Amino acid sequence: MKKKIKNEFDIKQMRISGKITANVLEMIKPYIIPDISTEDINQICHNYITLKKKAIPACLGYNNFPKSICISINDVVCHGIPNRKLFLKNGDIVNIDVSVIKNDYYTDASKMFFVGKVDKKNKILCKKTRKSLYLSLKCIKPNNKINNIGKIIQKYIEKNKFSVVKEYCGHGIGKKFHEFPHILHFYNKKNNIKMKKGMTFTIEPMVNTKSSYVKCMNDGWTIKTQDGGFSAQYEHTILVTKNGCEIITHQKKEKIPKIFINI
Ligand code: MF3
Ligand code: CO
Repeated sequence: MKKKIKNEFDIKQMRISGKITANVLEMIKPYIIPDISTEDINQICHNYITLKKKAIPACLGYNNFPKSICISINDVVCHGIPNRKLFLKNGDIVNIDVSVIKNDYYTDASKMFFVGKVDKKNKILCKKTRKSLYLSLKCIKPNNKINNIGKIIQKYIEKNKFSVVKEYCGHGIGKKFHEFPHILHFYNKKNNIKMKKGMTFTIEPMVNTKSSYVKCMNDGWTIKTQDGGFSAQYEHTILVTKNGCEIITHQKKEKIPKIFINI
């Protein structure tokens, strides 16, 4: 299988696209409050992406997905569909997953938001999920094996008594939404291709409080935990550089650098 390597022009475009994706996640924060409907959040993001940034929301119409972003609350693991009858409430943990296309280049990122006062255990779930993503960035550099990412994530998550969802993985990204390679968030001996300078891919661990098992709802999209445990996810689009990596979807308030030097 072919590893798609980005050239300088591609990388420039990925940075432009990634900044828009990051800006959506920064912009939406003040709206994540009790009693707002998830459709209202979707509409605010849609207008921002299309009108303000002249970009395209990649989820809209993707395999017939009906909305512009995914919103996944509490026991929803991923791919929650915004709905005008679904309202945020105090104590919810909410993942907003944003993918945009700008000048034909895709980027993809997501993060968790807290609605009002959130249980300590659920806050810890979100923090550990974010930390697992951040820790994995330290192993990204040319010639390292791609399965080191999942190894680091799984080890850290299981040490903290949470579980890693196995059914969904990160992916190469560029002029297509989902490209080779698959980025698993758990260790797999066979997932051993080498990272190369100029590769771009997402890392997007989904982590559950109880078992890792998931189920798909009748809408064909919404993925929930089987046992009702809560689930968190963080996602970034990453570029492999000559000596480490760059977070293409880095947001201003993140407490980690945009550029990692790992050699
Ligand atoms: N951001 C998700 C991903 O990583 C998007 C899922 S496709 C959608 O692939 F249509 F549900 F949005
Ligand atoms: Co993704």
